Amino acid sequence: NFTTSAPVRLTFDGCKPTFSTGQMWDCCPIVSKEPIRNFKPTFNSSRPIRIRRALQCLDEEELEEYRDKLETAYRILNALPDDDPRSLKNQAAFHCANGAGTIDNAGVPFDIHFGWLFHPWHRWFLYFHERILQSVLGDPSFTLHFWNWDNDGIVINGRSKGCTKSGHKFPSMYADPSSPLYHQSRSPGLDDPSLLVDLGRTLYFKDGETLLPPGPQLPDDVVLARNTEAMAFWFNGDSSTRRFYGRAYRAGDPKMEDFSVTIGGSLEVYAHTSVHFWVQGDMALTGTAAYDPVFYAHHGNIERLWEHWMRQAPDRVPEDPDFLDAELLFFDENGDTVRVRVGDVLDTHLLGYDYEETNDASWNDPI
Ligand code: C2O
Repeated sequence: NFTTSAPVRLTFDGCKPTFSTGQMWDCCPIVSKEPIRNFKPTFNSSRPIRIRRALQCLDEEELEEYRDKLETAYRILNALPDDDPRSLKNQAAFHCANGAGTIDNAGVPFDIHFGWLFHPWHRWFLYFHERILQSVLGDPSFTLHFWNWDNDGIVINGRSKGCTKSGHKFPSMYADPSSPLYHQSRSPGLDDPSLLVDLGRTLYFKDGETLLPPGPQLPDDVVLARNTEAMAFWFNGDSSTRRFYGRAYRAGDPKMEDFSVTIGGSLEVYAHTSVHFWVQGDMALTGTAAYDPVFYAHHGNIERLWEHWMRQAPDRVPEDPDFLDAELLFFDENGDTVRVRVGDVLDTHLLGYDYEETNDASWNDPI
């Protein structure tokens, strides 16, 4: 009972436990179904654009101040009652509901992954996550910084710009077991400062191979080469709109999982998913990923790279009204349910922030 030429328009009606990634997920949002407010970002000229920064590029003092604030915020979120949508637990469950298929998409399980809703949904999710952090901190200037894992710190012929410190290591502020930013169940040894992130996990994934657990750490030069390849692949390779965003995904379209670029977009299935599998534990499954605080630092980098891609080629944003008019649901810093439109999330300045520029010399080789 659906038409294949209508945009996704979510409701929470019909949400039910669903089988996905080998198990049952019971994560329907606990937010109110009514009333639902339409939300449109409006530019606030009285407020400066906040800059989301690369974690490894903060100086010691900035990092300490940031870590204190973020830890305070997550302590508050962890202490919120279970029926408060803003609790970290419920934010994670919300990602589960939208990704493991418990939410209904015109009669079939919905999934924000493996299709063109991937980038806009996660940007909205981070936007409201940041508003919630600002609100519990009572600090509207608070800005969520990102894990700059694509930055290998290699400067080529002076071509690099912005911060040139490598972001290939797991951000240490998330690795301290006494911190609320720590999360159990990650791959052991992430706090080892010599370990480099492997962005090539899904790029080199072959049918029949298991992605988990990780093999021994590959030699540094091999990892560096894989990372450059994974980044250059989507950025300079086939960077068509279809390849970058993945398949068109409309009302009633089936949920599909595929670690090749036939279904999902190239940045999503390669570097993005590789980082999830590299961190492992809860990060490795859609149903649990957003329980790990590093999820939000990871996705900051994803949407920064999306922004980077859009700015180099503004004409490659899908023009299809089924993309632009898709309607998604979130909840705001008061726990109120809001309905948003995909076409309203394409301009970070309208949302009040921008990104620090960082080194991309190894992989950004325009052709
Ligand atoms: Cu919804 Cu990084 O995944």
